[in-house]
This record gives sequence, C-alpha cells and structure tokens, in this order.
Amino acid sequence: MKKVKIALLGLGNVGCGVWKILNSNKEEIQKRSGYEIEVAKILVRETKKDRGVIVPEEILTTDFNEILNDKDIKIVIEVMGGIEPAREYMLKAMDKKKHIVTANKMLLATGGDEIFEKADSMGVMFHYEASVAGGIPIINGINESLTANKVEQLYGIVNGTTNYILSKMETEGLSFKAALDEATEKGYAEADPISDIEGFDAQYKLAILSSLAFGTKIDVENVYREGITNIKSIDMDYAKEFKMVIKLLAIVKDVNGKLELRVHPTMIPKNHPLANVYDSFNAIFIKGNAVGDLMFYGRGAGDLPTGSAVVSDLISILRSNIDLENINPVVKNNLWDKKIRDIRSVESKYYIRTTVEDKPGVLGEITTILGDCGISLRSVIQRGVESPQHDKVTLVLVTHYTKEAKVIEAIDEIYELKTVKKIDNIIRIEDFKN
Ligand code: NAP
Ligand code: HSE
Repeated sequence: MKKVKIALLGLGNVGCGVWKILNSNKEEIQKRSGYEIEVAKILVRETKKDRGVIVPEEILTTDFNEILNDKDIKIVIEVMGGIEPAREYMLKAMDKKKHIVTANKMLLATGGDEIFEKADSMGVMFHYEASVAGGIPIINGINESLTANKVEQLYGIVNGTTNYILSKMETEGLSFKAALDEATEKGYAEADPISDIEGFDAQYKLAILSSLAFGTKIDVENVYREGITNIKSIDMDYAKEFKMVIKLLAIVKDVNGKLELRVHPTMIPKNHPLANVYDSFNAIFIKGNAVGDLMFYGRGAGDLPTGSAVVSDLISILRSNIDLENINPVVKNNLWDKKIRDIRSVESKYYIRTTVEDKPGVLGEITTILGDCGISLRSVIQRGVESPQHDKVTLVLVTHYTKEAKVIEAIDEIYELKTVKKIDNIIRIEDFKN
C-alpha cells in the first residue's frame, strides 16, 4: 500500500470531524483511495486544549512553517476558517506544490479568484466540497452531474444554524437566543455567529453555488442579503395560518439572461419539499432545463457531516495521481458574463406586518397608498385590541405579485402616516410559480 502524509490547519469542530472519520473509517478510506494516510502535523493556536479527541501531542504545532517546509506533506486540509492567515497559508502551500482541501466559504466567496488562479498556475488540486451545505455533495453535483443543463433557478437552505433556530422556534417555541445557543453547542455556528444569523454565511454560499451553476464570476456584494434576527414567533403564527413556513432561502434565478441573487427570510408553502427541511438539515432545489426539478438534501453543518465532505475531497485527490505535474486545472467559472438584476426589480408577493392606531380610516389610508403605488392586496388581517389602552392593533397585509421598487415606495409613504406606529416586518413570499 502506498503511503501519503497530510496536514490539517485547524482542529476545531470540522478538524475533529475529519480526524474522527480518518480513524473510524480507516480501512474503507485506504481501500477507496489506495493510500495509507498519515496525519503528519496539525496546526492549532493552543496545543494543550481539550478537544474531546485523542491526538498525539507531538503532531500538534503552532508553527505553520513545520507544515510548509515538510516536503513529504503532499496535501493540506484547511479547516481553520477566516480570511487571514488561512489565505496566506493556502497560497504558500500551493507554491510548494501541495494540494489543498478547504471548507472556507468566506475566503472562497470573497477572494476565491486569487486562490483558483494559484491552483491553476501551480497545477495543484483544489477541492472545496465542504464549503457549501456541509455533507451534501452539491459542488460535485453541479460541477460534474449537471453540466448538460442550463440552470434556470436554484433555491437553497444553505445555513444549518439559521435553519436550526427557525425550526426550534417554529416547532418547540424556543426563543431565538436559546436556539442559537444550542446550535453553537452542537458545533453548527461559525466562530462569530453573526455570520450565520445575519445571512453572510448563506450569502457566501450562494455566491459560490451561483458562480458554478451559471459559469460566471459572482461578486458577493451583488448578492442581496437579509438575516433572520427580525423574525418573531408572531410571524411564524401568521405563516402557519397561511399554510406556510418561514425559511432563510438563498435564491438565484436567471431572468431573461440577468441573474437575480438574494438571501432573505422567505415564506414558502408548507407542501413544498423545502418547507419540510428542519433542524440543521440543508437542501438545494434546482431547476435545470433538461433535468427538471432536483433536490439535494442532508446535514448542512456539524463535525461528521462536514468531515465527510472534506475526507471525500481528500480521497478524490488521492485517486488522481498526486505525483503527476499539472493534474487538475480547477473548474472554470468565468465562461460567461452575466448581468445582475437589482433587488428593486425583483417580483414577489409580500407579507407586511404593521402596528397601527385602532381607529376608523387607518386601513383606508394604507390601502390608498398601496393602490396609488400599483400594489394589489390579496388579504388583510386585523386582530382585535392588543394594548391595554385600546390604541394599537396588528395589521397584516399580504400582496399579490408586485415589484419590490413599488413596495419600497409604498412603505416609505406608509411610514409617514401618523396612525402607523411601526412597520414590524416585511417578508417575501415565494410560491415557486414565478
Ligand atoms: P472552529 O471550531 O472555530 O475551529 C477552528 C480551528 O482552527 C481551531 O482548532 C483553531 O485552533 C484553529 N485556528 C484558527 N485560527 C488559527 C490560527 N491563526 N493559527 C492556528 N490555528 C488556528 O471552526 P470550525 O467550525 O471547525 O470551522 C472551520 C472552517 O470550516 C470554517 O471555514 C467554517 O466556515 C467551515 N465550515 C464549518 C462547518 C461547521 O459545521 N462548523 C461546516 C462547513 C464549513 P485552536 O483550537 O487552538 O483555537
Ligand atoms: N455555520 C455554518 C452553518 C456551518 O450553520 O451552516 C456550515 O457551513
């Protein structure tokens, strides 16, 4: 059996998952890859930390040069996260002809070009299956199995933490904070969970998926983003009443050759397959012009699911002949230039929850503004008196399909009404018919 030395950068949630899989599935991995794998070094910040796994102390290091300068280390697995020093270390490792596996969506989405170009120019392999949707083989799915298609639309639940939070709030009535604490405890959340709950993580992942699915470079700034911090249990109750659920969706649509890219909380019909994706599960629903509707489903976060994608990338590299020069130029994602649609051009249905004064004429004022802006209402719900002073009520408006620009214009005017105390929330409704 051939032998190969590899190194890990990071031994946190994902690194420990990788370590566990390499040990527990040793025989399968050897047979499938044709190699006996030795983890020669693991880079960490703190060598004495209890990580819940038994790792020989002598392979832990805080000095990246021990990995860089070891000629026998052929493959580097980057699972430390963040931009620097992960970027610098990967570039330096590729300069030394080391192949790379990474789970770092933030780095790929914000500075991926430089990394892909380096891999290409050095003729090393660069794999990143774990960067999107944890254990789901979506990168390979798009890059290998869907290349005969023109992708028309892609809808993803691509962040495990937010899906866990929304699931726990909806099904168990947990508070946002308690659910986030659980997601962190289970190893789903990023080191800074703002990235999850404010939608940045999903924004990075949508940029990566879209660039692969549409063969074009995507600037992450062109992906419209909202997080889930404004979602309250009352919104979930209304969604339930409409036979819907609220999910943080990452959406890309090709609308007449222009790409519409957005991440935001979305009400979707309960009977759609994505509505039944709960807990830390992720799913990606794709419409291809040949294959039709397709859904990938699985665990989107956590040590073992993510470790599964990382180790599979490692095996892919080993199955190619790692000692050959220029073996695997990376898949090109700059085949076409695509224009981006501004969020104001998006057409959707909208749920608008407001708090208004409980007096005659208020509804009329609001519906007049909506009518003047060309927005047609599907339903209006006013729920009884909600304050002890009998002075304010919740008014929920649901629109028919309308342009976002019209909604923005109407909301600006509604804000000005003295009788409107607050626009509490606006959530887009996706019925998958547009
Ligand atoms: P984590 O638990 O915070 O672990 C990070 C590891 O990297 C730690 O072992 C840390 O060392 C080490 N590290 C960080 N900065 C370092 C530095 N400057 N020098 C040396 N070591 C350093 O993170 P994680 O959850 O495993 O995530 C790792 C990567 O995988 C991130 O890019 C993340 O976005 C991605 N990812 C995570 C998941 C998931 O479910 N968690 C899923 C898919 C992708 P110490 O332990 O000594 O502090
Ligand atoms: N924090 C990420 C999530 C990890 O919750 O989905 C997986 O990329």
